Amino acid sequence: MSEIPYWVRRGEAYEESFLKTPGIIAQEDALYRAVIVRPWRNALDAGCGFGRVSRLLANWRPGVSVDGFDPSARMCEAARDLGLGTVWETDIASFDPGGERWDLVVAAEVLMHVPPDEVVEAARSLLRLSRGWLVTADWSIDREVERDPHNWLHDYFDVFERCGVHVVDRVDAPPFQCVWVTTARIG
Ligand SMILES: C[S@@+](CC[C@H](N)C(=O)[O-])C[C@H]1O[C@@H](n2cnc3c(N)ncnc32)[C@H](O)[C@@H]1O
Repeated sequence: MSEIPYWVRRGEAYEESFLKTPGIIAQEDALYRAVIVRPWRNALDAGCGFGRVSRLLANWRPGVSVDGFDPSARMCEAARDLGLGTVWETDIASFDPGGERWDLVVAAEVLMHVPPDEVVEAARSLLRLSRGWLVTADWSIDREVERDPHNWLHDYFDVFERCGVHVVDRVDAPPFQCVWVTTARIG
């Protein structure tokens, strides 16, 4: 079952607690290494939360536009305050930008919150939003990690294979995470 109601509630006091997450610096470093070597002029931050990754993307490549979406109204408000682009209040399954696509779609710690029976469809939806790259950061199945009910350990090589694309790069983000890069080649 979808955990979206959890995230809508969680948006209230999220930013402060999230920034204390162990490994967040390593994850940001891995995201940087994954995106900086690739050509993109605009990006979509899927499940953008309060805009942490949107802000990083805009700093790493000045002049790009960065849009985002998130199911939590409170988090969307914080992301909009950054003034980087359009922020929609919605989730992966419902997001319909009317055929618009982005060079780069990033989903940091979002697929790990999608239950196993929905994750392939969610990954497919993210791929459809990209005309270039999809970069995801999530906990890795080869890591020792104690998980809450709203966190899942997926086999992302398998998830993306089932979407019909290959993982072209995997950047380690110790202690828990990896960043996966796929090319969006599906319709
Ligand atoms: C761990 S936070 C990460 C936030 C942001 N991506 C970051 O890295 O700072 C997970 C985010 O995913 C969002 N989320 C959870 N399920 C989602 C879904 N099905 N579609 C889109 N966003 C979702 C939550 O609202 C929350 O903002």
